[in-house]
Amino acid sequence: MICALLLLAGAARAHADPCRVDIESNDAMQFNTRQIVVPAECAEVEINLKHTGHMPAKVMGHDWVLARDADMSAIINGGLAAGFNRGYLPSNDPRVIAATRIVGGGESVTVRFSTAALQPAAHYVFFCTSPGHATVMRGTFQIGVATRVARNP
Ligand code: CO
Repeated sequence: MICALLLLAGAARAHADPCRVDIESNDAMQFNTRQIVVPAECAEVEINLKHTGHMPAKVMGHDWVLARDADMSAIINGGLAAGFNRGYLPSNDPRVIAATRIVGGGESVTVRFSTAALQPAAHYVFFCTSPGHATVMRGTFQIGVATRVARNP
């Protein structure tokens, strides 16, 4: 519980607007948070993904993808088949709620998406589709009140 609250405090500190979330990734194949919660009042969410490392996208590239947790594996497998030049994402896949392009060290990317189709009771996850990354580069995404507390391994 304490960890989740600290993460939320960190996200709130970055922007006054709670509908804008900064998230960092690095050369050690990590996101800097395992849980994102945005208020139900957010009609649109903006995710700013920064790669704080130095390695190129083809070696240690990261993206930020949002989907229902039940769809994550299929999206990752589709991304593997699509390959790097297609951003490790299956094209026109309706299961992908939001996604950035792959970024390498020193790069940032922003994605905005509507929350209109998101449901407070549903389980959403964010993850990176670079091959093998989602085993560690993943977390929960919730809209509305934080009812599920992230448990650190
Ligand atoms: Co990654």
